[in-house]
Amino acid sequence: MDLLEKIKVAKEYISKYYAKKLDVAVILGTGLGSLVNEIENKIIIKYKDIPEFPVSTVAGHVGELIIGDLNGKKVIALNGRFHFYEGYAMEQVTFPVRVIKALGVEKIIVSNAAGGMNPEFEAGDLMIITDHINMIGVNPLIGRNYEELGPRFPDMSNAYDKNLSNVVEKCAEKLNIKVQKGVYLAVSGPTYETPAELRMMRLIGGDAVGMSTVPEVIVANHMGMKVIGISCITDMALADNLEPLDHSRVVETANRAMIKFVALVKETVGNM
Ligand code: HPA
Repeated sequence: MDLLEKIKVAKEYISKYYAKKLDVAVILGTGLGSLVNEIENKIIIKYKDIPEFPVSTVAGHVGELIIGDLNGKKVIALNGRFHFYEGYAMEQVTFPVRVIKALGVEKIIVSNAAGGMNPEFEAGDLMIITDHINMIGVNPLIGRNYEELGPRFPDMSNAYDKNLSNVVEKCAEKLNIKVQKGVYLAVSGPTYETPAELRMMRLIGGDAVGMSTVPEVIVANHMGMKVIGISCITDMALADNLEPLDHSRVVETANRAMIKFVALVKETVGNM
């Protein structure tokens, strides 16, 4: 099967459960899955049951697609994502976004856990992603281009939609939630960064560093979707003051920030 056929079979499977209009998609990052609890009239579909869908392997990631109502909108949430460091091909990492667009969704909120490189940030902060730097080393659009999906050379001048980002900022203000704004720098992982790497990444303009999001955002832009990016700063990734880090701390801090995250996403969804 080529990519278009794979998208079609996955889409048709999901359409058997829900075939009406969907307003917005949300990809839930590490430790941020409890947004799902706010979704009403849920239809839950396990990734493993969707033809051609990959299955996630990381602790803290579930592997379910949830369709339902959130603050007056029909949402489709992806609880669990696929990372390049797990060994998936980029086509698999970005496959869910392809399927979501095929279902007719034009707007997507992508979230993640990230290390804070901007010294003004602190662990537990939320950051609206204003732009990204792709240092994963590959681009998910390398290879055959399907004109049916998007152009060979996609524009990335507004990769994180400015108007929608303004909506997030206004919602944060209304809810009295402090938000940072900044550039998300993506690496492949799975290693966390060395101090020398962090020094370079800060120097070239990164405010936060993580191992996801950018492939999905590139593919969403390829298909003309509008994107919101939200990072949860789970640890400070400062070259000159770097403490040992492990995944459990990332999950723990994300869990602490979850209440804010859930409130902000819920409000944003209602206003976009
Ligand atoms: N580096 C890379 N990825 C991350 C980090 C980090 O410090 N924190 C959470 N994800």
